[in-house]
Amino acid sequence: LKRLIIVGYGFLGKRLARVLEKYGREELLLAGVANSRGYVYSDQGLRPGELEDDLSRHAKFREKPPIEMVENSDADIAVVLTPTNIRTGEPGVTYIRTALARGMDVVTADKGPLVIAFKELVSEAESRRLYLCYEATVGGGIPIFSLARQYFRRDKILSIRGILNGTTNYILSRMHFEGLPLDLALVEAQRLGLAERDPTLDLEGIDTACKIVILANALMGMDKRLSDVKVAGITRITSEAMMAAKEMGMTIKLIGRIEEGELTVAPRLVKLNHPLCVHGTLNAIQFRASLMGELTLIGEGAGASTLASLVSDIDWILRMRGGL
Ligand SMILES: NC(=O)c1ccc[n+]([C@@H]2O[C@H](COP(=O)([O-])OP(=O)(O)OC[C@H]3O[C@@H](n4cnc5c(N)ncnc54)[C@H](OP(=O)(O)O)[C@@H]3O)[C@@H](O)[C@H]2O)c1
Repeated sequence: LKRLIIVGYGFLGKRLARVLEKYGREELLLAGVANSRGYVYSDQGLRPGELEDDLSRHAKFREKPPIEMVENSDADIAVVLTPTNIRTGEPGVTYIRTALARGMDVVTADKGPLVIAFKELVSEAESRRLYLCYEATVGGGIPIFSLARQYFRRDKILSIRGILNGTTNYILSRMHFEGLPLDLALVEAQRLGLAERDPTLDLEGIDTACKIVILANALMGMDKRLSDVKVAGITRITSEAMMAAKEMGMTIKLIGRIEEGELTVAPRLVKLNHPLCVHGTLNAIQFRASLMGELTLIGEGAGASTLASLVSDIDWILRMRGGL
């Protein structure tokens, strides 16, 4: 029997808690859940349906620093679903360090810690023979790292290209198909809840750059940081430029690329019939590997499908620990 705690009880945390309730209690117990203000924890496990949407209304809610839950629990797996901060990696990086130090395997969807401290966290996990899984950090529900773990084990990934930010892809798609100017397409994306109120990280290509850094470090053995990525966003793309691309049977996409050791993010002309050319909020990632040649994966880059990645990481850990 394994115990699991969730740090971060927002969009993903709440949904994951509900999915975990469906696991057999002899297999996996959800022992604790924390948000920014406190936590609910029970060694015997929380009962299905026991968690409310508002955690603080739970009878056992402790209004204490949530790190206490990680420091004091004997959980086997910590799932870190805290908001991303790409400048400091916090609060996720402290939760991950603490969980590893306590001997827990870790699953996270938070890019911040991996962008800031990839090497440190991976080495820490390896030296303690723990798993640190982060399928959900890049491409939402697209199985990238789990595929690589199995399929590319004996192959060598030579280059990676991808559309890795659903917000900008949605905006560029509206510009392409409806001739909208960028500012109107952005307002539409915000109205539909597809763009943050402050969309700077998306529009300026920084979110894509973070994902490129994680891919380079995780899949190509590099040791890159955000400052190693040459980044240009989409803010200067005009309707006229988009229409000109369209007339040539092409469109403009924000492409993150790892090629010959170079990491770049930039708007690029892409042929409409190219496998990477997906529209709306879809993400696409293309690997070129020495045995396999080219492989393109397409899927939802965020939203509820991200749960599939979290569950796949948790199942992988349970299997490796002999629990499944
Ligand atoms: N949503 C997606 O589709 C998606 C996809 C891929 C990756 N991600 C990443 O996954 C992570 C979680 O995403 P989300 O959409 O679930 O975020 P969210 O809805 O904003 O939820 C974040 C949760 O973290 C809690 N939190 C904030 N500061 C904390 C702290 N210091 N200690 C403990 N908990 C803290 C928040 O507490 P309160 O409830 O008290 O505010 C909230 O419960 C983010 O890093 C995001 O970038 C999300």
